[in-house]
This record gives sequence, structure tokens and C-alpha cells, in this order.
Amino acid sequence: MSDRFLLAQISDTHVRADDAGAAAQQLRRALDGARAYRADAIILTGDLVNDEGADEYAALAEALIDPPAPLFLLPGNHDERARLRAAFPAHAYLPRSGNLSFTVEDFPVRIVALDQIAPGETFGDFTPELAAWLDATLAATPDKPTIVALHHPPFPTHDLLFDTIGLKGAAEFADVIARHGQVVRIVCGHHHRVSVGQVAHAPVVIAPSTSWVYGLAVHEGQQIAPKTTEQPGWMLHAWTEAGGFASHFMGL
Ligand SMILES: [Fe+2]
Repeated sequence: MSDRFLLAQISDTHVRADDAGAAAQQLRRALDGARAYRADAIILTGDLVNDEGADEYAALAEALIDPPAPLFLLPGNHDERARLRAAFPAHAYLPRSGNLSFTVEDFPVRIVALDQIAPGETFGDFTPELAAWLDATLAATPDKPTIVALHHPPFPTHDLLFDTIGLKGAAEFADVIARHGQVVRIVCGHHHRVSVGQVAHAPVVIAPSTSWVYGLAVHEGQQIAPKTTEQPGWMLHAWTEAGGFASHFMGL
């Protein structure tokens, strides 16, 4: 196995049934990019659909037929676990019930995907149960470089809206990450704009949405979460054993 690992991260696709296929088309363009770059794996970090609808999951499944690399799905606050699971019966890594956290052991970098959605809520919740799961899961393989994926940013973005709908329990999340030095990257979505932060020793990258980019509001009076004309996209996280990760924005 090559010691290079290329992970395509596609986030906040918000596939819907009433947009004449526009969001699904953006998703397919991102998949075309992953194919062109010969990504080793693809992870979708939540808000796969826009309104939890079964018809939206059907459109999503159609868009994801024949992906160019092994494909992994993580829910966001716009997703519904049971419908997601039902729409992708062949995705054996997804737990059969309950929380949809999982690990992927097939690549030179281990993927630990954390489902921290709070059903019915816009914010995320890193609960004590998830903290125990993440701590034990990371402790089980301490020597392999690991990327942790989740939906909600686990650091303050300083955006007036998104910090109110971020990850509850972020301090506890940082406490867990701090105990596991093999976590070399954390990736998430939710904010629909590229941002870089840090949790303990690990850099954190927020991926853009493939569908639209939100503006930033850091001062009172600035518009909250306007849809901008900035370029949507996806991320290509390239890793080698000698060089570690570089995370590239790939515009659509
Ligand atoms: Fe989203």
C-alpha cells in the first residue's frame, strides 16, 4: 500500500427534491473532482440533505451511485439517522441502530467519524457517552495517524450565529483529543465556509458546502449568515507519512 493517502471531504451538500437537481449536481461535480484526483476515500460530513425528507435521501442515493472511491457518510443537523441508514443499506460501516459513529481501518490514516448530532436541534452535542466512546476508540489504536471527522466545528469560530449553534461539550471534546497524540487532523462542516482552528494539538479544518457559502458576522449589526456569491467547494486532505496532512480547498 502506498504511504500516500488522499481523502476527499464533501460537506453540507443539502440535497433536496425541489431544486431541479441543483444541489445533487454540485455533489456530482465534487465527486468528479475526487475521481480526477484519484482520492482513496470520500467522506461526507453531514447535512447530506436539506430537510430530512425520504425523497431527498432517494435523490442523494441516486447522486451517490458508483462513487469513484470508498464512500463514508456522517449525519449533520439536517439529517435523520433512520432515513439515512435506510437509504444506504449497503453501507455496512453504519451501525444498525442508534448513533452513527464509526471507524475506518482500511487506510494508512485511520478515520474516526463521530456522530454528535442532537436530533431536532441545530447545535451539536458531545455527550458524556460520546466522550467515553471517542476516548476508548482512540485508545484502542494509539500508534496509527488518525483523522477525526464530525459535523459541528469543535472550536469557536467567532461568528455571531455559528457559535450559538456549535458543538456543546467542545471543552470535553478537547480534553479527549488532548489525550491522543495520534490525532493529526480534525475535519468538520456546518459553517458553509472554510475556516481553520485548533483543538488541543490538532489542527481543525471546516470544509465548505458544495451548495452555498455563508458570510461571516463578527460585529453586532453585520448580517447573520447571508448567502454569499463566494465559491462553494470541497476539501482534498493529502497525507504522507513523512509530510503529514495538507488540506486543500477545491472550488466548484
Ligand atoms: Fe449545512
